[in-house]
Amino acid sequence: MVKAIILAGGFGTRLRPTSCTRPKILFPIVNKPLLQWTLEKLAKSGVKEAIMAVSYRTEPFIKQFEVSKCGIKLTYSRDPLKNPLGTGGPIKKAENLISHDENFFVLNEDIFADIDYTKILKAHEQNEEKDAIATIALHEVRKPERYGVAELTRENRIKRFIEKPLPGTAPTNLINAGIYVLTPRIFDYIPKGQTVSIEREVFPKLVKEEKLYGYVFDGLWIDIGKLEDYLKINKILLDSFANQCEREIVGVEVKKPVAFDEGVSIGEKSVIGPYAVLGRNVTVGENVRIQNSVIFPGTVISDFSSVDGAIIGENVAIGKCVKIGEGCVLGDHVKVRDNVVLVKGVSICPGKEVFESVLTPKNII
Ligand code: GDD
Ligand code: MG
Repeated sequence: MVKAIILAGGFGTRLRPTSCTRPKILFPIVNKPLLQWTLEKLAKSGVKEAIMAVSYRTEPFIKQFEVSKCGIKLTYSRDPLKNPLGTGGPIKKAENLISHDENFFVLNEDIFADIDYTKILKAHEQNEEKDAIATIALHEVRKPERYGVAELTRENRIKRFIEKPLPGTAPTNLINAGIYVLTPRIFDYIPKGQTVSIEREVFPKLVKEEKLYGYVFDGLWIDIGKLEDYLKINKILLDSFANQCEREIVGVEVKKPVAFDEGVSIGEKSVIGPYAVLGRNVTVGENVRIQNSVIFPGTVISDFSSVDGAIIGENVAIGKCVKIGEGCVLGDHVKVRDNVVLVKGVSICPGKEVFESVLTPKNII
C-alpha cells in the first residue's frame, strides 16, 4: 500500500496576512481546501494513508479543520518545537511510519497539479532498474528562477539540479514540481534529527551518484505560495467550471464564472463576477460590486461597497461605501469602517480595525 508524506510545516510567509491564521494547505481553492483537492487525487491513485509532516504551529489548524478525507487515513509526524526540519528532515522523521519494502510519495503542500500519480510511480519503478532512488515531477515554466531547476539527460536522468538559481542562470525551464516518488534507500541520505533541505543537500548528492530522475508532465501546475498565484488558480478553475450553472439570485446580476458556497446571500442590484468566489455564509449587501476576488467564509460586505482583485479573509466586516482595490489582502476578522478606500496593494493583518482610507500600498499591522 503506497503511502504519501505531505510536507506541511512551512510558514507561508509569501501568503501573509492570509497565512497568519491558516497553513497553506487549508487555503480554499474555489471553496474547497487545497488539502481536499490533493487527497481526492491521491485516493484515486490508491493511496490509503497520508503522513502529514507538520510543525507545532500547523498541526492544530489541520486537526481542527473539517476536511473530507476521501477514505485516506491521516497520520501526523511533527517537527520538534524549536527546530523546523526543512524539506528533507521531516522525511527522515517519518521513516518509522513508512514501509521499507515500498516506494512512497512526498508532496509539497502548496501545489495544485493535474498529475497522474500512478504514472510517476510507474516511471520511478522503471528508473529503479537503473538504480534510481528518487524520481521527481518536472514541469516547464516561463520563469524558472523561483523554483528548483533540473537539467535532464536523454534517459530522463537529472544531471544538474539547482535550487533557486540566480536570475538569468537557470540552465532549463524545467522545474521541480514538488512531487516525488522515493525509494526507501533515500533514508540513508538524510541525517536524523537535523534540518535538511532535500533540494539543496539531498538532490545534488543523488545527482552526483546518478540516482535522481525526472518525470516531465504538462497540464495544470501552480504553486499557490504567492498571492497572485493563489488568485490565478481560483480563476483557472472557475474557467474550467464555467459551464456549470450557478443558482440565479433575484435582483442580482451574476457575471459568470463565479462560485458561491452554501449560505451565501446577496442583496439586490449587486453585480457579482466575473471571477468571484464567495465562501460559506458570505453576506453581501445591496448595490455591491465584487469581481476577480476570493472572499473567505463568514465575511460581510455592506451596501454600495466594491471589491476588485482582492483576497478577503474569514469573518471580515466591510462597512458601507468601502472601496477595496487590486492586490489588497485582508486578514481574518478585519473590520473596515464605512467610506474607507483601500487602494492597490494594501494588506491588513488579522483582527485590525481600519478607520481611515489607505491611499498608498502598505502593510497595516
Ligand atoms: N514539516 C516541515 N518543516 N515542512 C516544511 C518545512 C519545515 O521546516 N519547511 C518547508 N516545509 C514544506 C512547506 O510546507 C512546503 O510544503 C514544502 O516544504 C516546500 O516549501 P516551500 O517554502 O513551499 O518551498 P518553495 O516553494 O520555495 O520551493 C519548493 O517548491 C518548489 C515548487 O513549488 C522547492 O521544492 C522547489 O525546488 C520547487 O520548485
Ligand atoms: Mg512553495
